[in-house]
Amino acid sequence: MSNDLIEKINKIKVDRNAIILAHYYQPPEIQDLADYVGDSYFLSEIARDCDEEVIVFCGVKFMGESAKILSPNKKVLMPIIDAGCAMADMANEKVILELKKKYPNAIVVCYINSTAEVKSHCDVAVTSSSAVKILNNIHEKQVIFVPDKNLGKYISEEFPEKEFILWDGYCKYHHNIKVSDIIELRIRYKNAKVLVHPECQSEIRDIADYIGSTSGIIDYATKSNYKDFIVATEEGILHELTKKNPNKNFYIPGDSVCCEDMKKTTLESIYETLLKMENEIYIEEEIRVNALNCLLNMHRFAGDKNESTV
Ligand code: 13P
Ligand code: SF4
Repeated sequence: MSNDLIEKINKIKVDRNAIILAHYYQPPEIQDLADYVGDSYFLSEIARDCDEEVIVFCGVKFMGESAKILSPNKKVLMPIIDAGCAMADMANEKVILELKKKYPNAIVVCYINSTAEVKSHCDVAVTSSSAVKILNNIHEKQVIFVPDKNLGKYISEEFPEKEFILWDGYCKYHHNIKVSDIIELRIRYKNAKVLVHPECQSEIRDIADYIGSTSGIIDYATKSNYKDFIVATEEGILHELTKKNPNKNFYIPGDSVCCEDMKKTTLESIYETLLKMENEIYIEEEIRVNALNCLLNMHRFAGDKNESTV
């Protein structure tokens, strides 16, 4: 049954001149179907550079929005239009305008996990894989960072010479990962390396062997000679980790770390979206143009050579 559906999707995808992008937190069958799977930074580059007229974004809303901001002439469809990121919704336009008024000399940096409206008021976006590189290219001494306080704290520790004004947002899935759950796994798997996403709290980072984005975690584990890894991030990452490393063991702390919105995508919803060409992302042009500047600065400050091709 699912093979028939996959065949149907692959056929309609060609008819519609569409590309399917999926984040590492998507369900395994969606990652297997996608043309590209990656972290937020990589997917934003593919969305910007691909030739297809239609992008089916299997992820959450800020990802689809970023694709539309970067590629206004492409149709960006989301299989589940209400798949959102609760952290992205923790900051809004009012918050940014108030912070900007209070700290007029600060540069305003947002995590890519933010709404298009928030991006439209920010100077530059970052992802977890590009944040440190981007901040290295920023000369302002004062930095407003929204919405993720955990990623913000991680970056601020790398730049002690700067003053960071952090908003109080967080990803509940990463924020709730407990030190005791990691310690428990470490007792069981004595030689395990601890790999941590920077959306986790600082006490989790303090016991990490490696801190990085989803793709950073996958690269680290793949290159490592170790066999056991405790992985402090959303469990969708296990699919790529085990595919690339069939002889290594990966353990998620606690009962599960599962982002409900990331798991809403189904093969059926992808097929329906392509069949009906529905669930398109729309962004008001004034917001899009301002938010584009913020995303172009992200690619520029991260040293992306293709940035000027946009
Ligand atoms: P990265 O894949 O960029 O590490 O982002 C993780 C995330 O929170 C996506 O929602
Ligand atoms: Fe947002 Fe957290 Fe889900 Fe990522 S895992 S989409 S940050 S809620």
